[in-house]
Amino acid sequence: MTNETNLKSMADLVALCKSRGFIFQSSEVYGGLNSCYDMRPSGVELKNNLKNRWWKSMTLRQDVVGVDASILMHPTVWKASGHVDGFSDPLVDCKECKTRFRSDNTDSYINEKKCPNCGSKNLSEPRNFNLMFKTHMGPLEDSGSIVYLRPETARGHFVNFQNCQQSSRYIIPFGIAAIGKSFRNEITPGNFIFRTREFEQMEMQYFVKPGTDDKYFSEWKDRRWNFYIKYGIQAENLKFKDHEKLAHYAKAAVDVEYKFPMGFSELEGIHNRSDFDLTQHSQFSGKNLEYFNEAEKEKYIPYVIETAVGCDRLFLAFMCDAYREEVTYLVDENGKKSEDVRIVLGLHPEIAPYKVAVLPLSKKEELVQPSMALRDQLADDFDVTYDETASIGKRYRRQDEIGTPFCVTYDFESINDGAVTVRHRDKMSQERIKIKELNSYIFNQIKTF
Ligand code: GAP
Repeated sequence: MTNETNLKSMADLVALCKSRGFIFQSSEVYGGLNSCYDMRPSGVELKNNLKNRWWKSMTLRQDVVGVDASILMHPTVWKASGHVDGFSDPLVDCKECKTRFRSDNTDSYINEKKCPNCGSKNLSEPRNFNLMFKTHMGPLEDSGSIVYLRPETARGHFVNFQNCQQSSRYIIPFGIAAIGKSFRNEITPGNFIFRTREFEQMEMQYFVKPGTDDKYFSEWKDRRWNFYIKYGIQAENLKFKDHEKLAHYAKAAVDVEYKFPMGFSELEGIHNRSDFDLTQHSQFSGKNLEYFNEAEKEKYIPYVIETAVGCDRLFLAFMCDAYREEVTYLVDENGKKSEDVRIVLGLHPEIAPYKVAVLPLSKKEELVQPSMALRDQLADDFDVTYDETASIGKRYRRQDEIGTPFCVTYDFESINDGAVTVRHRDKMSQERIKIKELNSYIFNQIKTF
């Protein structure tokens, strides 16, 4: 008998991420660095799977190419984009407790002009705080050597638009996709990895003929929604939210929101950015970035449909969605019932850090050797983990908490019958499968999940 509950608080997820080796605070041995995180073995595998699925969903299309632009760019890029003058949040200082906070999203300030920490009204006026991290290029630290750590990956797509288009001989509509680190000196990072100062973005700009932009905006909305559903996010935890106030360059903007423990919040932005970015870069660089359509003999600055999601935020959404606690009841030989809580990450197998765990029933040499061979056989096709410590029950639970969909146990019978027990994460059902058929069996299970 089971009784299921979903994730109740972020603290439960943070604890699991720590105990099962997903995420730790950066520089933990030195006491940690605020809002910076390191992915550990299970985390890095899961994050790579997310990046891989997103990358394939973009670049397996005939009309999308990838780029990997550098993090440091010519400083005029950020002047042209509007980031130097406008990429700022309103910052308020509390003169009593010295807390600094954003005035535009802090309820106690918006409603009563009070500090969110101590309630004091002794506050500074809001002032604009630019979120870009500055550094210097070369040995001189003067104003002429300032460069920025990019606050978004998208800029690399705009400045590479023309050379990508011409070298790949792409005709519009076509897109450019990238995955990479971005940096923002956020005033109030928080909610674990939801808002951090260093994070990874996955962005795609789709260049289209003006006048066709509404159609492509709506197509990309559908595609991005379907991506989440395909990899198992529950539809009731997702919604679209149209922007009430559009940025000056945007013709349309919608967020995909996910129901995080703190409530529905932005997961991804989908924007119709008009011809703003390429027009700006044409003006500031002095290069004509118009597109010439040979067949139609027409020239124009393309409109851009952008899809932009943070990989770490996506990671958080997948973890929140997959987390469940099941209360099961064990009955002992005297009929006494006891409660037993099982934590499971019900991740889609394509996203789970490992597809299979190989678990010899005991540490005896006659089981360990063939189990290692079995691990190697499976590793040809899947991400595999191996565990021979603790009781088999404990090892199953450990894999449930990592989200491993299949556990394979090699036991004493396996030596004679050439078969192993496959245990399924979600139903906890078990079946006996021949070792020589195991890879194709797991393959089919993943395909039909
Ligand atoms: N090029 C457009 C752009 O960067 P954005 O809405 O500022 O748009 C896109 O960012 C996505 O990047 C967000 O929807 C979010 O998933 C992620 N993101 C933005 N700031 C972040 C932060 N400080 N920490 C983690 N993820 C962040």
